[in-house]
Amino acid sequence: MNFEGLEYKNTILHFGGKSVLEITQTFPTPFYLYSEEILEKRIESYYEAIKDHNIQLMYSVKANSNLSILKMIHKKGLGFDIVSGGELFRCLQIHVPGNQIIFSGVGKTEEEIEFALKNKILFFSIESQSELYLIEKIAKRLQVVAPINIRVNPDINPKTHPYISTGLKENKFGISADQFEDTIQTALTLKHIELCGFGYHIGSQITDLSSKIEALEKSKNFIKIFNKYKKLQFFDIGGGLGIQYKKEEKVPSPKDFIESILPYLPKGDLTILLEPGRSIIGPAGIYISKILYIKNNYGKLFYIVDGAMNDLIRPSLYNAYHEIIPIIEKQDLPQIVDIVGPICETSDFFAKNRLLPLMQENEFLAILSAGAYGFVMSSQYNSRPRPSEILIKKNHQVQIIREKETYFDLIKPEIKFLNE
Ligand SMILES: Cc1ncc(COP(=O)(O)O)c(C=O)c1O
Repeated sequence: MNFEGLEYKNTILHFGGKSVLEITQTFPTPFYLYSEEILEKRIESYYEAIKDHNIQLMYSVKANSNLSILKMIHKKGLGFDIVSGGELFRCLQIHVPGNQIIFSGVGKTEEEIEFALKNKILFFSIESQSELYLIEKIAKRLQVVAPINIRVNPDINPKTHPYISTGLKENKFGISADQFEDTIQTALTLKHIELCGFGYHIGSQITDLSSKIEALEKSKNFIKIFNKYKKLQFFDIGGGLGIQYKKEEKVPSPKDFIESILPYLPKGDLTILLEPGRSIIGPAGIYISKILYIKNNYGKLFYIVDGAMNDLIRPSLYNAYHEIIPIIEKQDLPQIVDIVGPICETSDFFAKNRLLPLMQENEFLAILSAGAYGFVMSSQYNSRPRPSEILIKKNHQVQIIREKETYFDLIKPEIKFLNE
């Protein structure tokens, strides 16, 4: 097995040094399972390459916002990139200082801007001139100065899935290159705005680094324009490094990625920010589910598992591929199967026409590389309580970091209206 932190020992799958079978004997499936050891290794891989450079990592909270995960990441010295008031609230719960938080997103509301200003965040990544004027208005009312970076849309193809490419001219993100200089000039006229720098985020699950280099090459001109007006303090090159999803796939590590872009980074007295999400937490999480039923319809084999698209939607949403393996290694002849959940949608699948050994009902499957954009995208569709999240600590102790929701959690916001 060539996935980080995963191996079969005496036919039993171990993740982060711990037997997954043992964990299924304590916790009911389905659940997400994370490894602190793998998470820290991913962060170390970034640190190894950035240590002599003025580069700051701002973990992208959207990838996985569990409080215990955020706390571990905060302890390792990363700042945070948020996209909503809710994500800010989560960061504040674990006592992240405002000056370690940056705020991206095309649709920040007045309440969110005020909340962020009151908590003195490092800067807002602004994505339109209208947003700039709204921030000015709120900062004026609060009698503060709002630090901002301009998010530019550099029109670059990140060669990834269309739903997760964000820096093409047809995407909603950032300010177009032809409005860049004008936005700088506008920002400089506003008394309650302090222009600090600019940045971009061109997309996610990027494994071909040529687009990253192209964006840096294109930035030279943006830097030149910016420097005409102000000293560049922050240059934010976003997140987007991809991870391994397929067995045979070889993808750049965080260290490989940084080393390949270092020659293209601007030099001088400025801070370069990176917003990695998936490449920090993706490989540090797997999702465990139990086979409820096996059936053969018209010669097609289905493994019907107790997890579903409401817990992990990536396969249904993007047709994303996740490797799926049994937690007890099998030598049986592989079969072609569909792995599907109990939800009443044909799109409720984890894999289609996948080669897997013949398995039995009540056996467990692990869905790999599920730490990022997994639980955070879950829902309660079909009135299914969201699953639990479990952490394997570095000392190999296992602890729950989010309880499975109850039936009462499903109805809590509604119940008080029943008698009105
Ligand atoms: C602005 C911004 N920064 C960072 C990220 C994190 O990307 P990734 O998880 O691919 O590193 C995203 C994700 O879409 C984003 O929108």
